[in-house]
Amino acid sequence: MQISVVTLFPELVSAGNRCGMVRAAIEKGRLTVAGYNPRDWSADRNRRVDDRPFGGGPGMLLQPGPISGAIDAAVDEDGGTRPLVVALSPQGQRLDRHVIADWAEREQPLVLVCGRYEGFDQRLLDSRVDVEYSLGDLVLSGGELAAMVVVDAIARRLPDVVGDAQSVVEDSFEADRLDHPHYTRPPEWEGRGVPAVLSSGDHRRIAEWRSEQALMTTARRRPDLFLQHGPTDNERAALERHWLAGSNDNPGQPTDTRLITGGGK
Ligand SMILES: C[S@@+](CC[C@H](N)C(=O)[O-])C[C@H]1O[C@@H](n2cnc3c(N)ncnc32)[C@H](O)[C@@H]1O
Repeated sequence: MQISVVTLFPELVSAGNRCGMVRAAIEKGRLTVAGYNPRDWSADRNRRVDDRPFGGGPGMLLQPGPISGAIDAAVDEDGGTRPLVVALSPQGQRLDRHVIADWAEREQPLVLVCGRYEGFDQRLLDSRVDVEYSLGDLVLSGGELAAMVVVDAIARRLPDVVGDAQSVVEDSFEADRLDHPHYTRPPEWEGRGVPAVLSSGDHRRIAEWRSEQALMTTARRRPDLFLQHGPTDNERAALERHWLAGSNDNPGQPTDTRLITGGGK
């Protein structure tokens, strides 16, 4: 899969390419990440790419010319399927795992465009960008970290990159549920033990325990996941067992009783 990153700081993105899953994906030939610096398309002899906003106001804006030059070069470079041009912006749609999974599964070539200063000239967005995506309701000083989040989240979903593919399938959000708690050695740490079932060797009971724990964590922390994708009949029964019976394992209460009474999948 080909990802091009249009950025004033290609060295920042390259640093991410040298670590962890992104590095593994690149080394296994599953992913190519190329940087395009808009300064290389600046007409200014000092390679300037910013200017004051029309109408006044604080800060500087990226000029459209150098950014469009870098985007056009990245699009042309790809040669095959036309890449999707994505601007990273706090005004974009919220990035989530569905978007990432879709891009990774289709190996959709991407051009990720990183803003700086006050962001992009609107004409650049109108003429070159297919879609804007945001990391969430916070403002970064540049799009590079957001682009690196996209690259990392995609890399771990590409075939043969994560050692045990099952671990990706069991991650939070995969089945619209959060992950279950994990424990490793030592069996006792600072006076805290490990749930006995995990040492029982009974794989059916372990799987049941994990799935119930994932269910409870989701209900307590992210009931919105349930409200979008209602609990199955089995999950509803487990929730009733734990909460309505006042289970010691899970003393919390669901924040929304529709979790228990809502329609099943
Ligand atoms: C300081 S921000 C510009 C913010 C812009 N003036 C606004 O209020 O929408 C500079 C750049 O950082 C990136 N950025 C900031 N917050 C982001 C977010 N939540 N998600 C993705 N990119 C973000 C964008 O590329 C943006 O152009």
